[in-house]
Amino acid sequence: EEEHLALLLDKYKNKLTTLPKQKGWMGETFYMYQGFWYRSSSPFSVQMTMAMQDSFKPHPTDIYLLTLPKSGTTWVKALMFATVNRATYNHGNNTLLLTHPLLVSNPHKCVPYIEQEFIKKTPTHVQEKPNPCLHAPPRLFSTHIPYTSLPRLILDSGCRLVYLCRNPKDVMVSWYYFSNKFPHEILTPMTINEMFEVFVKGMVPYGPYWDHVKEYYNASCEHPTKILFLTYEVMKKDTMNQVKRIAEFLGCPFSKEEEGNGGVDQIIRLCSLESLKEVNKDGEYGDGIPNAAFFREGKVGGWRNDLTDEMIKILDDITDEKFQDLDISF
Ligand code: A3P
Repeated sequence: EEEHLALLLDKYKNKLTTLPKQKGWMGETFYMYQGFWYRSSSPFSVQMTMAMQDSFKPHPTDIYLLTLPKSGTTWVKALMFATVNRATYNHGNNTLLLTHPLLVSNPHKCVPYIEQEFIKKTPTHVQEKPNPCLHAPPRLFSTHIPYTSLPRLILDSGCRLVYLCRNPKDVMVSWYYFSNKFPHEILTPMTINEMFEVFVKGMVPYGPYWDHVKEYYNASCEHPTKILFLTYEVMKKDTMNQVKRIAEFLGCPFSKEEEGNGGVDQIIRLCSLESLKEVNKDGEYGDGIPNAAFFREGKVGGWRNDLTDEMIKILDDITDEKFQDLDISF
């Protein structure tokens, strides 16, 4: 695995030297590729994106969750996994198996990042070997790669994409708390002012925030049957209808009977912040990040407690300008 990664990174080494680079989030060097900033020290790097653009082979039945980090990825991974696999982990009388992956593991294990699969195995393997959590197609994957750089075959093969975005102020604050849970031997902890500065400049992983959201928003308008555009805020306000909408979009709508039996409620409870927090209170996600770091407050508008009036004004002004043609309400 490591050897495969080393070869892959080496192959794109020369291309890397041609890219703009700058210090950003947590004092790390970032590379700009096709208009977006990528971390230099993560295996989820520019090189990985380039390699996937060259050789990632999706299945037409694949399902992808696309997000910017801190937009609610972990939650919607859980909801999509539980929805798509609901028959597999049910006793039949609407009782969940105690071995349901979401009762024993992190949603990130159930819906892996494509990059993780790509590092682990050869691209052909990615194509052939399904996610071990899934007993049958479709395979569920996730990524933060921006629309511009998404391997074209993912769209051309007819795969279904779900994009989730969240109010930039909550994303920024969530980033701040999450960042400071990283092990600090490698990365420099940041104050909220420093977090604000890099966020506004777009120098966070896969930033700028606004361009990422806007591209997927426009793509979802252009390809409504392929890309479903969701917001964290509407998901929180009307989880029931949003989960039904996701199921329908993914080709596995809830039957009237399931709805009547509380099948949707069961999934919502299983994926609630409280439930996932409890399951993930111990253990490590990887790279020294605790599982628990992915589950904090899960509030809409929590930014009110953390941002100054000046920060709010600056973020609102940018959002108003960048999203003026978009019909998104947070
Ligand atoms: P906060 O830091 O605002 O609490 P991501 O999964 O993209 O990294 O996003 C993390 C954010 O989603 C965190 O937001 C986290 O608390 C929230 N979150 C995690 N699980 C959730 C759940 N089951 N329901 C609602 N929000 C959840």
